[in-house]
This record gives sequence, C-alpha cells and structure tokens, in this order.
Amino acid sequence: MPGIMTKILEVEDLEVAFRIGPAFGIGQRKELLGVAGVGFDLDPGKTFALVGESGSGKTTLARAVNGLQAISAGRIVFDGQRIDDLDARRMKPLRLRMSMMFQDPVGSLSPRMKVGDLVTEAYRIHGIDVDFRAETERLLSLVGLSMDVTDRFPHQLSGGQARRVGVARAIALNPELIIADEPTAGLDVSIQGEVLNLLNDLRERLGLAMIIITHNLHVVRHVADRMAVMYLGRFVEIGPTDEIFSAPAHPYTAALLSANPEPDPDRAKDRIALPAEVPSLLHRPEGCEFHTRCPWARQDCGDEIPEAVIVGQRRVACRFPLERGERPPADSPTDPPTK
Ligand SMILES: Nc1ncnc2c1ncn2[C@@H]1O[C@H](COP(=O)(O)OP(=O)(O)OP(=O)(O)O)[C@@H](O)[C@H]1O
Ligand code: SF4
Ligand SMILES: [Mg+2]
Repeated sequence: MPGIMTKILEVEDLEVAFRIGPAFGIGQRKELLGVAGVGFDLDPGKTFALVGESGSGKTTLARAVNGLQAISAGRIVFDGQRIDDLDARRMKPLRLRMSMMFQDPVGSLSPRMKVGDLVTEAYRIHGIDVDFRAETERLLSLVGLSMDVTDRFPHQLSGGQARRVGVARAIALNPELIIADEPTAGLDVSIQGEVLNLLNDLRERLGLAMIIITHNLHVVRHVADRMAVMYLGRFVEIGPTDEIFSAPAHPYTAALLSANPEPDPDRAKDRIALPAEVPSLLHRPEGCEFHTRCPWARQDCGDEIPEAVIVGQRRVACRFPLERGERPPADSPTDPPTK
C-alpha cells in the first residue's frame, strides 16, 4: 500500500548562535548568529543545494544538521525523528545513516592513514565487523578507484582521487543522507564534472538524499532539484532550482547568478556587480539586511524586515521581488562609474 513518503530531513527555524570575545580580556562577550532561522525539507533520493557568499552560514548549517554543531533554536527531524535534542549515545545510531564530506578534500583525511584504512574507518569507529578487504574493494570500485591506491597516503593522491576517497568514506555504512561541503572546490574543471557525475550516479544507484554546498552555480543546476540562497545566515530565496535559474526573484540571487561565468559574451556584460562589503554578523543592517548592497533598494527598504513572499513555488525574502529579466535601475549604486 503506498504510504505518505516520510521526509528524510525536516529543518525548522534553525538558529546557530556563536559566543565570541572578549578579546584579550577587553570588551564584552557578544553573540552572533551564524544561522539565523532557516527551514527546509528534503525527500529521500533528492538533492538540495545551498549557495551564498563566503561566511553566509552554509557550513554552519550543514554541521548543525549533522549534529556536529549545537543549535540555539529550532528543530531538526531526521526520518520522522527529532534529533537536535539527542545526547551523543542516542545520536550514535543515527550517525550511521547520514554522513558528511568536509570542505577540504585532502586536509579532512588523516595524513598518516592509508586509503584502505580511511575508507573503512567508519566501521572501526562504530565497532562494525566486516570483511575489511572486501569492503575496501567494494567502496573503491563504487567511486571508480582501483585497489592500487589502498596503500597510499592522502598526500600521494591527486585532487580528484582524494575527493573520490572522501566520497567512498561518505558512502561507507550505506547512509541515507550525504552532506557534501564544496565537493568540487579546487579541482580542475574536467575533474569537477567527474566528481559530480559520480555523486549523481551514486545518488541514483544507492537512493541517497544529498545536500550539496557550493560556490559553483553550474554544479547546482546540474545536480540539485531544489536550492536555497543564503545571506547572513538566512535564506533569501528557496525553491525549485530550474525556477530560480530561469527567473531569480531576489536581487541577491540575481546578482549571484549573473556573477557566474557566462560562456555567452553577449550575456557576460549583464553582470550585476555588488559592492564588495558584506556586513558583519555583529552589526546586521536594519530592515532588509541586503539593503546596503541591493541595486534595487528603495528608500524604505531599511525600515522593516521583509516577510517572505511566494513567487511561483518559491519563498523570497524581498518586498519587491524581481520580474523575469528585470535589470537594476539606472541610478543603481552598483552602476559602473561614468567616465
Ligand atoms: N566557531 C565559530 N565561532 C564564531 N563564529 C563562527 C564560528 N564558525 C563560524 N563562524 C562564523 O559564522 C559565519 C558563517 O560561517 P560558515 O563557515 O558557516 O560560512 P560558509 O557559508 O560555509 O562560508 P565559506 O563559503 O567560506 O565556506 C561566519 O561569519 C563565520 O565567521
Ligand atoms: S527588500 Fe529592498 S533592499 Fe531588500 S532585497 Fe528587496 S528590493 Fe533589495
Ligand atoms: Mg563553508
């Protein structure tokens, strides 16, 4: 009997606060919100992408979902079970069901462990007895590596091989959810394609759900069903990837998409340049937090925090969502200076 499909992940109003300072005994302790109230959910076997500039909170959100970062508010529900309030002992069995590929491909691999031990490390950590050699062979073959690499150390691998070892580690224990933080960063373009195809292929073959974090919007378009655009720890736009790419509604999304390298020279000049300065999380702008950089900002945008509006199947945190193809106004502060 077909039942209602349970979401593999549900995140509600999630907040992560960091306490910082006082520096050198001077000043007060302050709190900043690395993630400032976000929500999304994910169906089994689907891919959700997180994009946004450096410091927008992508890794912090991923670490929170994976239980590596304590949260200060909100809920995380994995396969119908609330997990954000579990202690380490009760979280342990759930750790078998989700895994994380960390941002730095080589740095996240212990330098003194050989590939064979790295790919099966999770079994040892969890005290699961398997035929380690057979499992190493199975995992390496799933990620397109031969057994020749088992005795190598991470620094003896190419960037692409190190990424594949990272993928093998992530799929050990047959998880249902993988969180991949910048899975293609630092790789040559051709290798990026290979790693992406590998992830996509494994998602299909193993029925995995994935969260992919990336600065590369081509990656998003290629692999993600849904995506969210983060700014200062919030989602400014969330919805189906194809809708967002065909007509971004939040000015920040439009700027990010326009900054993506565009092969067509006629379109390249359409780039929407943003002032470089990203506000500090300790001094969030009043009202719409993007108003200090927004080429479409109006006089009163700094007055109130925008309620999320629905555009198509998206939620967009802007009082004046863009129409398809809209360009910044002529007097936009980001217009190139006149000669
Ligand atoms: N442990 C911490 N203590 C204080 N602030 C932190 C801590 N970890 C992260 N932050 C801050 O939280 C914000 C979000 O950081 P995060 O690493 O999640 O960003 P990101 O989107 O992953 O960036 P990148 O694209 O550079 O990886 C940043 O301003 C960062 O400085
Ligand atoms: S509310 Fe105003 S400042 Fe904020 S994104 Fe929309 S147009 Fe720009
Ligand atoms: Mg990060």
